[in-house]
Amino acid sequence: MEKVLAVIGAGTMGGGIAHVSAQHGYRVLMIDEKAGAVDKAREQIGKRLAREVEKGTLSSEDQESILARLVPSRWEDLAGAQMAIEAVLEVMDVKKSVFQRLDQLLPPDAILATNTSSLSITEIAATTERPDKVLGMHFFNPAPIMKLIEIVRGEATSDQSLGKARAFADSIGKETVVVEKDTPGFVVNRVLMPLFIEAMRIYEEGIASKEDIDKAVKLGLNHPMGPLTLADLTGLDVDLNVMDYMYNEFHDDRFAAPLVLRRLVRAGRLGRKTQKGFYEY
Ligand SMILES: NC(=O)c1ccc[n+]([C@@H]2O[C@H](COP(=O)([O-])OP(=O)(O)OC[C@H]3O[C@@H](n4cnc5c(N)ncnc54)[C@H](O)[C@@H]3O)[C@@H](O)[C@H]2O)c1
Repeated sequence: MEKVLAVIGAGTMGGGIAHVSAQHGYRVLMIDEKAGAVDKAREQIGKRLAREVEKGTLSSEDQESILARLVPSRWEDLAGAQMAIEAVLEVMDVKKSVFQRLDQLLPPDAILATNTSSLSITEIAATTERPDKVLGMHFFNPAPIMKLIEIVRGEATSDQSLGKARAFADSIGKETVVVEKDTPGFVVNRVLMPLFIEAMRIYEEGIASKEDIDKAVKLGLNHPMGPLTLADLTGLDVDLNVMDYMYNEFHDDRFAAPLVLRRLVRAGRLGRKTQKGFYEY
């Protein structure tokens, strides 16, 4: 039977998830509410594939068949999908309305997954008639390259659904961890945010230069890059949102954003000449 996946949202993450899934043989039904977004995502994937062909790591036949498996779709087409992954805006009401639609349109045994970075799986699941089949599949950017998916269990998610999500992840060449409790930050951001915060505080207190803080973590802990570099890369405004969200949920100072971060994010909004990250001027 042909493997059919629905991907809702064709932005950074939806495009990446569609890419890696099509590369592993899935027919991907792509949906985005913004006109032209799916075409733009397909175009970008096409460019990435063309680079692989140039490097000799992909044949041109495979390039064509991968692109052919990325299908711009309408909501009505989703009846043929065995699973859906949602990657729309990180706004609860938007996710809820997407899940209500998916619940009505996909076959009753289909798994409905969200790529949310922070929102409650249980709350999203509660808007459907199949909360046992709703779970989190948290990919990392860029999705075709990053190996990990955090699979997040909502309060009602069944073992069978977790098993199906794991099997799917396996089939697209990913590694998984299971987050057994639906909690803010799951595992990765729960570990990462305190690391960012401490590195930023060390910088703020003038204990070491930003270069030395990054060098210390890189060489002393064998990380591929330092925390301040990584914080720049993920985007300081995104980092600040995640910290504020976790702080509000946990009421715990471990997640309290340092002032230097808030200052840089505000400065970044002023325009081009202002510092936008720890390393950008
Ligand atoms: N960017 C990252 O590094 C990252 C990593 C992991 C998880 N996430 C999560 O993935 C999700 C998507 O993030 P992104 O960075 O790809 O965002 P993005 O803004 O690049 O893409 C979101 C897309 O969803 C579309 N969209 C919005 N509402 C829609 C709707 N109702 N129906 C259909 N399409 C709709 C938008 O038009 C847009 O193309 C968010 O929940 C985010 O928290 C992001």
